Amino acid sequence: MNPIDQIVADRDAARHASDPNADVCFLATTDANGHAHVRTLVLREIVENRFGVYMNRSSPKWQQLTENNGYELLLFYPTRQRQYRLSGTVQEIEPASVDSNWNMRPAGSKYMDYFYREMAPQSSTLESRQVLLSGIDSLKNRYPDPHDLLPPDLAVGLDLVITCIDMLDISNPDRIHDRIHHFLKQGTWVEQVLVP
Ligand SMILES: Cc1cc2nc3c(=O)[nH]c(=O)nc-3n(C[C@H](O)[C@H](O)[C@H](O)COP(=O)(O)O)c2cc1C
Repeated sequence: MNPIDQIVADRDAARHASDPNADVCFLATTDANGHAHVRTLVLREIVENRFGVYMNRSSPKWQQLTENNGYELLLFYPTRQRQYRLSGTVQEIEPASVDSNWNMRPAGSKYMDYFYREMAPQSSTLESRQVLLSGIDSLKNRYPDPHDLLPPDLAVGLDLVITCIDMLDISNPDRIHDRIHHFLKQGTWVEQVLVP
């Protein structure tokens, strides 16, 4: 089976098994000093080899991804006993899709995106949590109905366009795991067995 179809099938099975990781992914990047950073993100649509994630342009991860330092995306479905490590390139999702996704976000997340734009970038330092709560209160006073909030320019969607997949299956009871490296060559997935 094509490795993307395999991931989609594993994710569907993970969802049916109430796997806590079914809807998330773990994205690792490096900063300009070579320090590694990894964080959890909601994984949206998987279309062909494009894995959609949404974030704010004010965040360090956005800067790291667009500085083109490379990334690795980790999926682990405990209920399937499968790990996938994915890498490739990055493409912005078209603004219309970002906007319709943003409009469905919970009110708190929308106010946070306005906070990043009007008060402080994501992941920057605040004097106290009270500063954050006061800032959110002032946004709620200014925009009392969250339905009136329009998608801010800083909201962005990225397709992680995957060209390499390292699959590890640890379900064999004898602990002799199965590991396969897949890479795209002229539009076709090629596979190599790896020492697990
Ligand atoms: C379950 C879960 C889902 C998350 N989903 C997202 C997401 O979709 N987009 C996002 O920007 N941050 C998401 N976060 C927060 C990130 O993990 C991270 O803390 C934040 O984006 C700041 O990351 P940065 O400083 O590396 O830019 C999520 C966190 C958790 C625990």
